[in-house]
Amino acid sequence: MHFAYNPSSSDNVSLLFIFLAIVIDREFLNEEYEDVKNEVDEYLTYAKREILKHGGVNVHPYSWTSINVRKDLTAIFTITNCYNTWRLYKLTNREDLVHMAISDSDCPRLPSDTAITIPLITRGQELPQILLDLRGANIYNWKTLVVIYDSTIHDDMITRVIKSVTQRKFGDSKATGISLMQLQPNMSRTELKDVLSTINPKVLGNNFLVIASYYLAGSIMEYAKSLKLASTTNQWMYIISDTDNNFKELDVFENQLKEGDNIAFLNNATLNSKQCQGGRKCHIEELLKAFTRALDQAIQDEFDTASQVSEEEWEAIRPIKTERRDYLLKSMKNYLFKNGVCDNCTRWEMKTGETWGVEYDTLEQKAEPKMVQVGSWRPSDGPDMTDELFLHIAHGFRGKTLPMITFHNPPWQILKLNGTGEVVEFGGLIPDIIKELSKNLNFTFRLEIANKTTFNSGASINGSYDVDTDLTNDVPKVLLEMIKNKTVAMGACAVTVTEELDKALNFTMPITILSYTFLVARPKELSRALLFISPFTMDTWICLAAAIVSMGPLLYFIHRHSPVYEYKGYPMKGGLASIQNCIWYMYGALLQQGGMHLPYADSARILVGGWWLVVLVMSTTYCGNLVAFLTFPKIDIPITTLDDLIAHKDTVSWSFREGSFLEKELMISTEGRFKTIFDGRIKHVSTDNEGLIRSMEEGKHVYIDWKQKLQFIMKRQFLKTGRCDFVLATEDFFDEKLALLVAPDSPYLPKINEEIKKLHQMGLIQKWLQDYLPKRDRCWKNRHLIEVNNHTVNLDDMQGSFFVLFLGFVFALFLLLIEKLWHRQFSKQKKKIIQPFMA
Ligand SMILES: *[C@@H]1O[C@H](CO)[C@@H](O)[C@H](O)[C@H]1NC(C)=O
Ligand SMILES: *[C@@H]1O[C@H](CO)[C@@H](O)[C@H](O)[C@H]1NC(C)=O
Ligand SMILES: *[C@@H]1O[C@H](CO)[C@@H](O)[C@H](O)[C@H]1NC(C)=O
Ligand SMILES: *[C@@H]1O[C@H](CO)[C@@H](O)[C@H](O)[C@H]1NC(C)=O
Ligand SMILES: *[C@@H]1O[C@H](CO)[C@@H](O)[C@H](O)[C@H]1NC(C)=O
Ligand SMILES: *[C@@H]1O[C@H](CO)[C@@H](O)[C@H](O)[C@H]1NC(C)=O
Ligand SMILES: *[C@@H]1O[C@H](CO)[C@@H](O)[C@H](O)[C@H]1NC(C)=O
Ligand SMILES: *[C@@H]1O[C@H](CO)[C@@H](O)[C@H](O)[C@H]1NC(C)=O
Repeated sequence: MHFAYNPSSSDNVSLLFIFLAIVIDREFLNEEYEDVKNEVDEYLTYAKREILKHGGVNVHPYSWTSINVRKDLTAIFTITNCYNTWRLYKLTNREDLVHMAISDSDCPRLPSDTAITIPLITRGQELPQILLDLRGANIYNWKTLVVIYDSTIHDDMITRVIKSVTQRKFGDSKATGISLMQLQPNMSRTELKDVLSTINPKVLGNNFLVIASYYLAGSIMEYAKSLKLASTTNQWMYIISDTDNNFKELDVFENQLKEGDNIAFLNNATLNSKQCQGGRKCHIEELLKAFTRALDQAIQDEFDTASQVSEEEWEAIRPIKTERRDYLLKSMKNYLFKNGVCDNCTRWEMKTGETWGVEYDTLEQKAEPKMVQVGSWRPSDGPDMTDELFLHIAHGFRGKTLPMITFHNPPWQILKLNGTGEVVEFGGLIPDIIKELSKNLNFTFRLEIANKTTFNSGASINGSYDVDTDLTNDVPKVLLEMIKNKTVAMGACAVTVTEELDKALNFTMPITILSYTFLVARPKELSRALLFISPFTMDTWICLAAAIVSMGPLLYFIHRHSPVYEYKGYPMKGGLASIQNCIWYMYGALLQQGGMHLPYADSARILVGGWWLVVLVMSTTYCGNLVAFLTFPKIDIPITTLDDLIAHKDTVSWSFREGSFLEKELMISTEGRFKTIFDGRIKHVSTDNEGLIRSMEEGKHVYIDWKQKLQFIMKRQFLKTGRCDFVLATEDFFDEKLALLVAPDSPYLPKINEEIKKLHQMGLIQKWLQDYLPKRDRCWKNRHLIEVNNHTVNLDDMQGSFFVLFLGFVFALFLLLIEKLWHRQFSKQKKKIIQPFMA
C-alpha cells in the first residue's frame, strides 16, 4: 500500500489521513465559543461523511492560540483576532501548512500564496478593509496622503480608514504621512474652493483620497481641476460615501475627466437582496467545504497516479509538501471564487479614468476620456484586478499613438524620405530623445513633416551626413501653429528657447545649450628673418648702440688727458689716440674680438675693464636668448576674445548669421562691446561662400556662430585642405537653449521634463550629441601647443645674419667707392695746388 502513514518524514505524509489543526480562540469568541466549536465539529462530521470519500481528516482542536506545531500537520484552521492570526501564521509558516484564517475585520490578509484569510466584516463597514487590502496587494503605494472627507462618514470610521492606510504591514517599514481635511456640512462652493486652494502638493504630497457625498465629490473634482490639483503626477481616489445614489450616474464624473488626470473611483456595488447570505457560520462552512473538496480531489488524483506507476516511480514523482499545499490552495481559491456565496452581495468596483493621450486618439473627431472598470473587491477573496488602479501611473500612455511634428534640421533631427515622401529614417539627437521618451512613457508616435519639400533628403543618419547642410534654426510657422492648436501632441524638433515663443507655447527643459563663439584663422608663424635681433627689444638695441658710440669718445677723453704717457715718455700717436679708433675698439670688444691696442694708463684700463663686464653680461644674455628663440617658433598674437577682435577692428571684419538668436540678442544688448560687434558686422554673408572662407583663411574675416557649427566648418576645411587653418576663440558668449515644444498648458510637460532630466543625469543626451557632432581631429588641439620639441635650425633661422653680412659687404663696397673718389679728388687738388707753384 502506497499510502502507509510514515510519521518520521514530514515531507512524505500520506494524504490518506491528514492532520488538521483547528484553533478556535476562546478569548476572541467569548460566550460564542461553544457555538462556534459545535458548528465546526458538526460541519467536519458532515464533510467527512459526504465530501471526503477517499481519505480522512484527523483533527487536533485547540482552544487557545498557544499551540504546539506538530510535524505531521498538513493544514491549520484558525478563528481568532488579527494579531493572533498573524502570530500563528508566523509560528507555522516553516511547516508549509495550508493556513485558513477567519479573523476580525481591518486585518491585513496573510500572504495569498500560503494562506486564505477571511475577515469577518459587518455590512456597510467594509471601507477600511478595502483600503487595507488594496494597500496589501500593492495596488496603491503611497508615502503621503491627503484625506479629504465630509460629515457623511462617521468619525470612528474615518479613524479606521486612516489606520488602514497608515498601518505598518508586518515587516513593512514604510510609513505614510497623512494630512486630514474635514469639509464642514453646508459649505458654500466658494468656501470649498478656498479650502481646496490651501492644498500645496509640494508640501502635502501627490496622493489624495476623497471620501465625500455624491454632490460634494463632484464639486471637489471640479475645483481640483481648476486649481490644477489634478495632474499627471497627482493621484486621486474618490469614494462616494452616501449610498442612496445610484452609481450608474458616474457619467457625471466621467464628463469632468480631462487629459492627463489620474483619477480612480471606488464604487459600492453592493446588492441589497434577501437571498444574500453571510456571517461567520457561512464562512466557516464554506471554507471547510472548499478545503475538504480540494483535499478529496488531491487524494483521488494522487491515488490515480500512484496506481498507474510502480512503487519506485511513485516514490520519485510523488508531490512534496509544498507542492501539495500549493495544489490545495489553488483549488480552494478557485472554488471560493466561482462558488463562494458568503457575503458575495457585498461588492465594490474600481473604475478609473483612461485619460492620457485620448485627445490625440483620432485626427477627425476628438475622443473623450472615459471611465474603465479595472477591478472589483469581495470580502472573501479581496481585490480582483483586471488592470492597474491608476492606469497611467503604472503604464504611462499605455501604448497610445501620439502625433508629432518635425522638420529636417541636422544634426538635431535628420529625416530621410523615399520617393513617395514617406519617412524612412528619422535620426539625430531629437529622435533619440523621443524614442527614449516613448519607451519610458509607453507611447508610440506618428510623424507629421513640416516643410517637406524644401530639403534634400539624401542625408544619411549616422553622423556622416553632409557637413554642408546649414545648421540653422528657422522654425516653420506651420509647425508652431499645429502644436498650438493641438493637432499634434508635441514638436519632435529642437527649437531655440525665445521669450516670444514661450508666450505662445511651452518649452520643455533645455535639451542642450549652444554657446556662440567665433572662428578665426589660426595664428601664423612669423618670419624668422630677423630672428637674430629678437633676443633684445628695440630699446635695448638702441641703448647698446648709444653705449658703443658714447663709450668711444669717453675712452678717448680719458686716454687723452692721462698724464701717464707724458710722464713715462710713451708716444701718444696712433692706437687709441684717435676717437675713431676708440669707437672701433669698443665695438670690437663688444663682439669679443679684442683690440690691437690696450691703453697703458690705469684710468683708461678701468674704463675698458668695466666695458668688458658689460660685454660679458650682454653677450651671454644674447646667446641664451637666441637659442630659446631658435627653438620656439614665433607665433602671431591670436585673437581669442571679443575684446581682441574689437581691438583689431581696423584689420579684421566680422559677420554672423542673419535672423539668428545672436543677432536679436546683440541688437537689444546694452553692453558696449556687443553694440560694437553688432554695429560693425558685415551683412549678407553665407558660409557656403568661397570668398568668405578665403578671407577667413587670410585672417581678414572672423565668423561668429554656434560653436558646433563652427566645428563643422573647421572639419569641412580640414577635409578639403588637410590643414588646420582655423581655430575657435576661447571666449563663449550668449547661450542659446534648445528645447522641445509642447502645446500651451500641456499636462504632460512636467512628466516630459522629468524624463529629460533623467536623460541628462544619465549623460545619455551628451553622448548622443557627441555622436552627431564632428569627431575630434588634430585641428581641435590647443593652439598653444605647437610642435616645439623637434626644431632643427635651418636656413630660415640663419638668413638674417647672412643678410647683415651681405649688407656689410655692400656697405664696405660703397665706402670703398667713396674712399676711391676722395683719394682721386684729393690727388687732383694736390696737383692743382702744386701747378701754380710750378708755373
Ligand atoms: C454599500 O451599499 C449598500 C447597499 O446600498 C449599503 O447597505 C452599504 O451600507 C454601503 N456601504 C457603505 C460603506 O456605504
Ligand atoms: C453570489 O453567489 C451566487 C452563487 O455563486 C451567484 O449566483 C451570485 O450571482 C453571486 N452574487 C454576486 C453579486 O456575485
Ligand atoms: C504599456 O502599456 C500597455 C497597455 O496598457 C501595457 O500592457 C504595457 O505593459 C506597458 N508597457 C510598459 C513598459 O509599461
Ligand atoms: C516609401 O515608403 C512607403 C512606406 O514604407 C512605401 O509604401 C512606398 O512604396 C515607398 N516608396 C518608394 C518609392 O520606395
Ligand atoms: C554609417 O555611415 C557609413 C559611411 O557612410 C556607412 O558605411 C554605414 O553603413 C552607416 N551605418 C549606418 C548604421 O547607417
Ligand atoms: C491647426 O493648424 C493647422 C495649420 O495651420 C491647420 O492645418 C489645422 O487645420 C488646424 N487644426 C485645428 C484643429 O484647428
Ligand atoms: C506655459 O505657457 C503658459 C503661457 O502660454 C504659461 O503661463 C505657463 O506658465 C507655461 N508653463 C510652464 C510650465 O512653463
Ligand atoms: C623629430 O624629428 C625626426 C626627424 O625629422 C622625426 O623622425 C621625429 O619623429 C621627430 N620627433 C618629434 C617628436 O616630432
